[in-house]
Amino acid sequence: MKALILSGGKGTRLRPITHTSAKQLVPIANKPILFYGIEAIRDAGVTDVGIVVGDTEPEIRAAVGDGSAFGVKVTYIRQQAPLGLAHAVKVSHDFLKDDSFVMYLGDNLILDGITPLVEEFRRDHPNSQILLAKVPHPEEFGVAELDGNRIVRLVEKPKQPRSDLALVGVYMFDATIFEAVDAIKPSFRNELEITDAIQYLIDQGRVVHHHVIGGWWKDTGKLEDILEANRMVLSRAKRAIHGTADADTRIEGDVVVGKGSVVTNSLLRGPLCVGERCRIENAYIGPFTSIYDDVKIRNSEIEHSIVLERCTIEDIPVRIEASLIGKEVRIQRSRRKPSAYRFMVGDASSVDVL
Ligand code: DAU
Repeated sequence: MKALILSGGKGTRLRPITHTSAKQLVPIANKPILFYGIEAIRDAGVTDVGIVVGDTEPEIRAAVGDGSAFGVKVTYIRQQAPLGLAHAVKVSHDFLKDDSFVMYLGDNLILDGITPLVEEFRRDHPNSQILLAKVPHPEEFGVAELDGNRIVRLVEKPKQPRSDLALVGVYMFDATIFEAVDAIKPSFRNELEITDAIQYLIDQGRVVHHHVIGGWWKDTGKLEDILEANRMVLSRAKRAIHGTADADTRIEGDVVVGKGSVVTNSLLRGPLCVGERCRIENAYIGPFTSIYDDVKIRNSEIEHSIVLERCTIEDIPVRIEASLIGKEVRIQRSRRKPSAYRFMVGDASSVDVL
């Protein structure tokens, strides 16, 4: 069995972060989302992994390499344009050959992994196995309509969903999927939808099994979902202080501080993680915050947020919360005249001021 991870696409709902970076590399608890998927696949015993990439190929390659750091062998598959999940399967045919495979959307996070699901697929050999989860806003997903225990219809982002069961971004297929992806036509959003390809399998009388998963799953396409994913992963963190904290610093709960980080006169209230070589001075870092490597935070308070590498946050009089702050951002209090807000923010940024 092989694995196919989809890591192309545009990430429009995460602009401006995705103007410059792949959405699958946004760190959750200081680890890129994509790495959780690779690890889940490896833990399920699948080591031959294809990664579908688009414009952000160099960045994904730099982060994942040949896969040996994860104990897998990675083959990169270039998709010239994000023409849909079924299109990504099509362009991967040479890699997949006629093997069965698990397809994993690179921006999805399933906290408890996929091992039992892959085992079940290997045991029962259906043509396809899909995962469903109850969600509050099914119109944002592919939606399944069931009759008893049988799937009758799958619709991509329906305006009027007929159930609250969303397709989770992990699918298992045998080689019959290639006939399906060749047969379908582009959807209303001009993509070849995997949802339509699975519907084709159902219509052809193929065996499509489903599972309603109870565990925690997130499609991290939007800011709120990324922050929630960060909250969920951090809630399982265990205290580990590899950096140094002075006598005036208080560390409460499950706090991770990376190597070379120095914390002075601050309160760190977990669960939270601070990366390597950070400087935290006279600050409050509150629960559910992930601070990546080489960040400086002075005379400021922050919680329930994600801060990427090499940022500086200094002398901010009001607590920062529910924020995703991109790489090398400076947020500072100005003493220049006139006393005014001054911004230099990228396209499609969002700033809330008091
Ligand atoms: O997250 C679950 C949902 O994922 C399902 O419920 C939907 O049925 C399914 O269509 C998909 O919907 P999204 O609109 O969220 O998919 P998105 O465009 O975000 O793409 C998912 C991943 O696949 C993401 O990592 C980017 C990658 N991708 C996407 C497209 C369209 C590719 O690699 N190539 C592509 O052509």
